[in-house]
Amino acid sequence: MNLKTQLKRLAEEAFLSLKRTKGKEELENFRIAYLGRKGTLTRILRRIKDLPLEERKVIGKRANGLKQQLEEGLKLRLSRVEERRKVERFDITLPGIKPRLGHLHPITLISEEIRGTFQELGFEMVAGPEIETEYYNFEALNFPPEHPARDSFDSFYLAPEILLRSHTSPVQIRVMEKRKPPLRIITIGRCYRRDAIDASHFPVFHQIEGLMVGEKISFSHLKGVLTYFLQKIFSPDIRVRFLPSYFPFTEPSAEVSISCIFCKGAGCSSCGGSGWIEILGAGMINPMVLRKVKYDPEKFTGFAFGMGIERIAMLKHRISDIRLFWENDLRFLEQF
Ligand code: PHE
Repeated sequence: MNLKTQLKRLAEEAFLSLKRTKGKEELENFRIAYLGRKGTLTRILRRIKDLPLEERKVIGKRANGLKQQLEEGLKLRLSRVEERRKVERFDITLPGIKPRLGHLHPITLISEEIRGTFQELGFEMVAGPEIETEYYNFEALNFPPEHPARDSFDSFYLAPEILLRSHTSPVQIRVMEKRKPPLRIITIGRCYRRDAIDASHFPVFHQIEGLMVGEKISFSHLKGVLTYFLQKIFSPDIRVRFLPSYFPFTEPSAEVSISCIFCKGAGCSSCGGSGWIEILGAGMINPMVLRKVKYDPEKFTGFAFGMGIERIAMLKHRISDIRLFWENDLRFLEQF
């Protein structure tokens, strides 16, 4: 058999056996068998120098090429074996890397707490649209046509007579139009006003609105419900104060304050020295509104209240700037 054929056979055999090697030891045996000092390929290489010049050139090139291929193949298989060993050495009892868990936004958390408190009192949660008509946002709520809130400087209009709701009160109308008393509902959602942004104003904010209608519903029911709610949310020892106020859709209306949660009513910078913090608007539903939804004001009465969720969250958690709720800075959010 001439050297050329021998080389060809050797190549076939070597590639096949390299493919079959398993583990480090077999690879080392392979190296010795072919590439070692007495290896088959080494021996062929040694004989090349005795060939006539022309053959030497051709066979020499082939033999050296084969040597290089075998060396590279060996290296590749060795690294694979190494890799597998690493995987096999992996200790599955090691503790893993914990993924960071997200959680609910502070506004969502307080909304849930508020909803829970009103649910205890039998209030049902309802929802209404954020895009409203002037009718639901103002007219049905007895806002006169020239009321400043109707101005496009104060509300976001999307088209004539269509705007982003500036409060949650239109939900009162939508519910009363569809259902008959007795009613006990709350709604929580986003509202929009064209306010300049500062520490206590943001053009988007959340309100919670409550409504109760039935026979013989009186102002004392309103006082009872709100006092229960505010003491539950803030602290059982706060006092609640009702002062006369004005809203077009309630009569009489009240602005409701709680005794300052920071100084307990003594007077401090947070309450402007008064000992009281104003927190919400409320009142008995104006008979004009009841008539609009075709309720008989002689038979049914009711109360409504509305307040800003951000304001409650800010007081409860002593947050000094409303913008923090929208910046999504994890250093802020992770505290809740
Ligand atoms: N909608 C009023 C506001 O945004 C709050 C309010 C609601 C007042 C219900 C009285 C009754 O200021």
